[in-house]
Amino acid sequence: MGISRPMTVSPSAEPDAVDTQRVRDASAIALRNLHKRFGRDAVALDGVDLDIHAGEFFTLLGPSGCGKTTLLRILAGLEAPNEGSLTIGGKDVTTTPPHLRSVNTVFQSYALFPHLSVHDNIAFGLRMKGVAAAERERRVQEIADFIKLGALMERRVNQLSGGQRQRVALARALVCEPDVLLLDEPLSALDAGLRNQLQVELQRTQKRLGMTFVFVTHDQEEAMVMSDRIAVLDGGVIQQVGPPQTVYEHPINAFVARFMGHVNLFEIDSVSGDRVTTALGQLRLEQPLAEHERHGMLLIRQEVIELGPEVPEGYNALEGVVRERLYRGSRVEYRLEVDGVVLLATASNLGQRLHAVGDRVTVSICPEDIVRLDA
Ligand SMILES: Nc1ncnc2c1ncn2[C@@H]1O[C@H](COP(=O)(O)OP(=O)(O)O)[C@@H](O)[C@H]1O
Ligand SMILES: [Mg+2]
Repeated sequence: MGISRPMTVSPSAEPDAVDTQRVRDASAIALRNLHKRFGRDAVALDGVDLDIHAGEFFTLLGPSGCGKTTLLRILAGLEAPNEGSLTIGGKDVTTTPPHLRSVNTVFQSYALFPHLSVHDNIAFGLRMKGVAAAERERRVQEIADFIKLGALMERRVNQLSGGQRQRVALARALVCEPDVLLLDEPLSALDAGLRNQLQVELQRTQKRLGMTFVFVTHDQEEAMVMSDRIAVLDGGVIQQVGPPQTVYEHPINAFVARFMGHVNLFEIDSVSGDRVTTALGQLRLEQPLAEHERHGMLLIRQEVIELGPEVPEGYNALEGVVRERLYRGSRVEYRLEVDGVVLLATASNLGQRLHAVGDRVTVSICPEDIVRLDA
């Protein structure tokens, strides 16, 4: 059974290998037409349909107030939907109380007992469940080794760093062996270096255990680096669901595009016959157009813009001026002005001469790299 899951994987096992045998169908989640209102007019969720696969690292991404926590609390059973249904492992749990769901939650605020030791914090859930002492000790030790907390077991939680506390919170949730682990912005209180490290650790832990993780964040880079799939939410409505690369490279609308960090968005401004034209400085971007795409926007990702001098064959070519340069180490960002239009470009820093503010540059864009978005 699940009790031995962490032990069946040696620490040296291939970190990215998913043992599909241990992925339990019991952890597949289906949400249908979920609505949640608070009071009369605060709509937190407005008709959410979603399938989360067993063994998946699934992320809910969106700005503050879009309904992420509400959705997680409904999964946990801490909040009931006004409408709609929820199944976990094919079983309808819409009205099942939290303690009868095989779901555990890790919060941003740790929610640990500060005066108790790491050991006692991890053991707490098992103690509540009445797991016998010997069995409890074995499982606590097992998970502590797995999360690399073995050396800290007797420390009190208030003597730990933020990253260590977050590990304890994770161990405490994992030791109960839920089918589904819910994580509500668990890393957002940590500084950047530690956060990056824990992102990798969390993702490896999830893959090794083959457990379903539903992770919440407002940080699109964090979502991309960790997730198998991402759902982008806005105003209680799911805007797009897909793997990180799809959501980033082919956002479905302007909201998703902006939220994924894109800035070069241009209105389609004239349509004639079966072609659409978008003005960008002196350049007229022309593309064939289907009937339903007569309205909408074009997206030019920062990193597809090439800065001359040569223009590859078939590319659009524009003359621009560098107005601002942001040196980011591995890459350099330029704010360009092209005939009064602002365009952001990212170049990798490969040791070539950097452009300076005021430089005139040739801007090249491959037509295939221009993405059309829904209105
Ligand atoms: N207990 C509550 N009472 C009233 N309004 C709430 C409550 N919880 C959440 N909301 C509202 O529901 C919306 C979604 O909130 P939440 O799910 O916490 O968003 P997120 O986690 O994405 O920041 C917000 O407008 C929020 O103010
Ligand atoms: Mg929240």
